[in-house]
Amino acid sequence: MEYRNRTALITGASSGIGAEFARVLGQRGADLVLVARSRDRLDSLAQEVRSAHGVRADVVVADLSLPRASDDLVASVAALGVEVDILINNAGFGTHGALADADPARIRDEVSLNVGALTDLTTAYLPQMTRRGAGVIVNVASTAGFQPVPQMAVYAATKAYVLSLSEALWWEGKKNGVSVLALCPGPTDTEFFEIVGTDDAAVGARRTAAQVVETALRGLDRGAPSVVDGLANRISAVSSRFAPRRVVLAIAARAVGASK
Ligand SMILES: NC(=O)c1ccc[n+]([C@@H]2O[C@H](COP(=O)([O-])OP(=O)(O)OC[C@H]3O[C@@H](n4cnc5c(N)ncnc54)[C@H](OP(=O)(O)O)[C@@H]3O)[C@@H](O)[C@H]2O)c1
Repeated sequence: MEYRNRTALITGASSGIGAEFARVLGQRGADLVLVARSRDRLDSLAQEVRSAHGVRADVVVADLSLPRASDDLVASVAALGVEVDILINNAGFGTHGALADADPARIRDEVSLNVGALTDLTTAYLPQMTRRGAGVIVNVASTAGFQPVPQMAVYAATKAYVLSLSEALWWEGKKNGVSVLALCPGPTDTEFFEIVGTDDAAVGARRTAAQVVETALRGLDRGAPSVVDGLANRISAVSSRFAPRRVVLAIAARAVGASK
């Protein structure tokens, strides 16, 4: 896939997988629009990629869990005068614990960000990409999207949505030159688990954000509808499709510390 002189809009670019996408796509010659809430981190990353790779890097500060935040972001990007060729819907977070004990506002934000903003931005940019007959959308799902996960019920459900939506859009996009990819990382060494608030959600050895991004770019090169990062994660994602649901639930519950 050619990235030079294309513009990539990356949500959740201030840290982890999103920041790695920015570095790698910048290195491959893409101009960048970096989006998250943390202005300082975005500004210093933009400066870093501009001086390392000579690309354009703009920053838009946005809390994408807020109503209409995606519309405002689309308007801000239009005001910059750039066309989005590559959309990386990466911003997201997880919550851990029984839903009965959860803070309703936190759950609402989780669904608004992981599902709402991702859908709004996809819906906003897909028509332009379809008209141009070219475009790339990477939606960051998770191995949590392959089965229900007790104690992370809402998070896993949001990622099942992302996986299902993206694979269907891969089908719709392929006759129009638009590549859609669901990227499914397993546990990855980022700030994700600090925000979840427990390491119980991290099963097995963590992969790096660099490995995850490399997996995504390989998936795009071969035109895959979805990719799971890492062999062990691939094996567990595939096996969850064949085991009885009670067994799948018991394994998932044990993996995230829900059966303690
Ligand atoms: N790490 C893992 O083990 C793992 C596994 C599977 C899937 N994932 C998925 O990978 C994606 C990236 O996560 P990560 O692992 O890189 O975690 P991370 O280091 O915590 O990064 C999350 C990014 O999302 C941004 N973000 C959070 N809330 C936001 C909001 N309301 N509005 C705009 N931006 C927001 C954060 O920036 P600000 O705080 O500056 O807003 C940050 O840039 C997520 O969708 C996550 O679900 C992660």
